[in-house]
Amino acid sequence: MLVLAIETSCDETAAAVVRDGRTVLSSIVASQVAIHAEYGGVVPEIASRRHLESIVPVVEEALSASGVSLSEINGVAVTQGPGLVGALLVGIAAARGIGAAMSIPVTGVNHIEAHLLAAFLEQEIEFPYLALVVSGGHTHLYRVEGVGRYSILGQTIDDAAGEAFDKVAKIVGLTYPGGALIDRLAASGDPKGVKLPRPLLHDGSCNFSFSGLKTAVLNWVQKNPDGKSGQPLQDLCASFQSAVCEVLAFKTAMALERTGIRRLVVAGGVACNSGLRREISVLAASRGVELYIPAPALCADNAAMVAVPGEYYLSERVATINGFDALPSWPLDRIKARFAERA
Ligand code: KG4
Ligand code: ZN
Repeated sequence: MLVLAIETSCDETAAAVVRDGRTVLSSIVASQVAIHAEYGGVVPEIASRRHLESIVPVVEEALSASGVSLSEINGVAVTQGPGLVGALLVGIAAARGIGAAMSIPVTGVNHIEAHLLAAFLEQEIEFPYLALVVSGGHTHLYRVEGVGRYSILGQTIDDAAGEAFDKVAKIVGLTYPGGALIDRLAASGDPKGVKLPRPLLHDGSCNFSFSGLKTAVLNWVQKNPDGKSGQPLQDLCASFQSAVCEVLAFKTAMALERTGIRRLVVAGGVACNSGLRREISVLAASRGVELYIPAPALCADNAAMVAVPGEYYLSERVATINGFDALPSWPLDRIKARFAERA
């Protein structure tokens, strides 16, 4: 089955052509990051307008790079939520338009579900596995039993990990989105240079909290303006990154222990972080756990990952949720409802 996948949930207009939900024939991502950087964060109205301008050229580029013509595509998969409502609507309208024009089926996909399954674009993974999803909007630990079968083991009670990276970057004067910039600066800093808290580390739950950590950075910066402490910015970045990664790894280890699961997937934009990749690799190796962290291009937002659940839902004729409404907040546990109403 040849699937055309479309992703417009936030600030990336993306399209991909994927064979059988596994082989990426093309994956095009047009990022709006430079535009939103001027405002220090994503401006929803600007995001929708940019998606409108980019969606047709991005889909055309994905088709031409794949060597597949539109008439050969068997179905369309599109991110239906969660995300920015205006941004989602652009992708959904494009997908439905193509579906109607070509008389092919269209299915809606949950963005987090796409992150959870992105690793299948690199290799097959046996179920069940534990998945740590760390992105700009999510920090969740899931037990994954199969496509559409997810249960939450833990989640952030305030900021997501990526959100914390971006807010701390802003505090120290880096441009949006600052996660990757902090990662780069942290590489030459001392992770023990600035003492920072590890929120909820010993609360006994698999939940996370990053808002207090961000405030601790803000307090430190206010007490040490203009590098008064003589401490380089690199040390602050390394200390912050190490606090986030330590908590993420600790809670992931706890979830592995409690569930007895021996396979781990790490996904979402923050899975690009070199400190997290290192810390989780050590954890997995020391416990004999099989570890899958997709290449950075598959961790960050892209459309190819949307084709993995998309192909499954199209071939199993599983219904979409609420027709094709954009679903700005769409908890993964509502996915089960799809299976009740086969199309
Ligand atoms: O999954 P994603 O591309 O979009 C969402 O669904 O949110 O994740 C974006 C997030 C941003 O917060 C960005 O700063 C963060 O991932 N990020 C990183 C790195 N690369 C991207 N955070 C830390 N280190 C990185 N190398
Ligand atoms: Zn994402």
